[in-house]
Amino acid sequence: MKITNRSSQTEIFVTGEGDNYYERNKSAFGNEEQRHAEKLLCEALSSFRAEIKGVLEIGCSSGMKLEYLCKYFGASGKGIDPSSKAVRDGNERLSRSGATNLALQVGTADSLPYKDGEFDLVYFAFCLYLVDRDKLFAAIAEADRVLKPGGFLAIVDFDPAQRHKRSYHHRENVFSYKQPYADLFVASGHYYLVAKSSFSHSGHYFAKDSDERVSLGLLYKEPDAYWVKGSE
Ligand SMILES: C[S@@+](CC[C@H](N)C(=O)[O-])C[C@H]1O[C@@H](n2cnc3c(N)ncnc32)[C@H](O)[C@@H]1O
Repeated sequence: MKITNRSSQTEIFVTGEGDNYYERNKSAFGNEEQRHAEKLLCEALSSFRAEIKGVLEIGCSSGMKLEYLCKYFGASGKGIDPSSKAVRDGNERLSRSGATNLALQVGTADSLPYKDGEFDLVYFAFCLYLVDRDKLFAAIAEADRVLKPGGFLAIVDFDPAQRHKRSYHHRENVFSYKQPYADLFVASGHYYLVAKSSFSHSGHYFAKDSDERVSLGLLYKEPDAYWVKGSE
């Protein structure tokens, strides 16, 4: 695993907070309730089901969401997460269930060990809000690099009306950075917003309280974002 200029928040997740997150939450990972965003994503991409052959989840923990998506699309999948415990347990679970087309590995969003254009669908589920701000554009560039032109990018994350940061409940010196992450891709002109669904942590409905909002954004990576200007 190559991690360049790792800064503090990433370091904290690699050296234990990723494992802590996994230990705190693993008992809930199997709940149907946890699949709302993935169900919406499958529905939104149902017309493209046959095209989606390779899926990557960045910040996958033990890969339950990745497994769900890959089952729906009949795709192979890769997942990456700083937690070595989640990756180990996830790979054991996948191998027990005979899912030989899925593999998880330890790593972080800012430096992905995958080939250019390797995936048809790249998924960030509650991951970008934890990425160090000085690694955010590296994470965006890496997701863009490994996504095929003509592929889809999906992001589910906090979506408040005003961008803000707050201390992460579980660990000192870690912040949760809440903002509409899909906007960063759309602003480039290289991505088109196919669909956005807004809901909340407490239910499958739009929250009037902006601090409660989360959303799923589905983006299409334009194969060529430029029209050709004539030779006038
Ligand atoms: C809130 S959990 C979400 C896990 C899973 N995607 C889900 O939705 O159930 C955030 C995950 O991101 C991982 N993470 C934290 N920093 C990361 C980074 N810089 N790159 C990739 N993953 C990271 C954590 O280890 C953790 O598994």
